Amino acid sequence: MDAPTLTDSTQSGAIDTTPSAGPKAPLSLRLNAVTYEAEDILGFEFVHPTGAPLPAYTAGAHVDVQIADGLIRQYSLAGDPADRGRYLIAVLNDPASRGGSRAMHETLRPGQLVKVSEPRNLFPLAADAERHMLLAGGIGVTPMMAIIEELERRSADWELHYCTRAPEKTAFASRLAPHVAAGRAHIHHDGGDPAKGLDIKGLLKSPAPGTHLYYCGPTGFMTAVAEAAAAWPDGTVHFEYFAAPVGDKPDAGDNQAFQIQIRRTGEILEVPADKTIVDVLRNAGHYIDTSCEDGFCGTCLTPFSGGEPDHRDTVLDDADRKRYVLICCSRAKTSPLILDL
Ligand code: FES
Repeated sequence: MDAPTLTDSTQSGAIDTTPSAGPKAPLSLRLNAVTYEAEDILGFEFVHPTGAPLPAYTAGAHVDVQIADGLIRQYSLAGDPADRGRYLIAVLNDPASRGGSRAMHETLRPGQLVKVSEPRNLFPLAADAERHMLLAGGIGVTPMMAIIEELERRSADWELHYCTRAPEKTAFASRLAPHVAAGRAHIHHDGGDPAKGLDIKGLLKSPAPGTHLYYCGPTGFMTAVAEAAAAWPDGTVHFEYFAAPVGDKPDAGDNQAFQIQIRRTGEILEVPADKTIVDVLRNAGHYIDTSCEDGFCGTCLTPFSGGEPDHRDTVLDDADRKRYVLICCSRAKTSPLILDL
């Protein structure tokens, strides 16, 4: 894994990602500082080269960082969303990385100009929550840092449980220290054995009314929290994966061909079984912005106004799925699927 990216399949807050109706040029930002956050974890602070304010973002948002040609990774913003002067991300140099986190650690140096997308948020705070329970595993703490800043500003009721191996592996310890002292943040060290860490099942067994749960972390942590929260009310559980979850995708061999229609022009295009909607649109000359191409980053979000999508993403909740489709991975149950492009 490279770092927290997205994937919030039951979010009830409004997503603010922009449909992929055209090219969105990334920002060219100055890497202002690289800081040591914890063992194997570096912080990267980006600023506008002229000192201009950066595009605003909301807590839980992420950016795409173009680390090298063809190497783009998503990272959650860990700073204060009210601070328009910088984007802060933290990156774990993970041996299991597909190359992104290692390249971030080994090649980026302060002073460089780096292409960074405008923030998108697929992990927003729920508007109707009375209380916020935050659970972070390892580097999954990064979106929680921005979320905590926002919740503090609102004087909201919140609690963080942050699971790490050891104190030296604990990012943002000094920022969290006042919250630990105040009894709102709890840091659990398990020495690498989850059985010796937080009792996730016990913590989540009786959700208090009005409480929303947000969690982010590595695969085993995500599975443990998902199982422990299985009985929480619909719409109260929100999560963000580092990458697309494995093992829950339909077999591509079962794909059927279908048609899409471009609403603005009426153009109808055939999507063969072995091609994606994005492939077909690009072949037809349409510019489609993508990043993960695996249904978890939200870049290719596209509104639709007819037909029934066969949603294969891990981002959208039921309400969003009535209006949007992620066209890098999803298909259609009925033809034509009318895309609002
Ligand atoms: S969800 Fe990432 S490009 Fe489609």
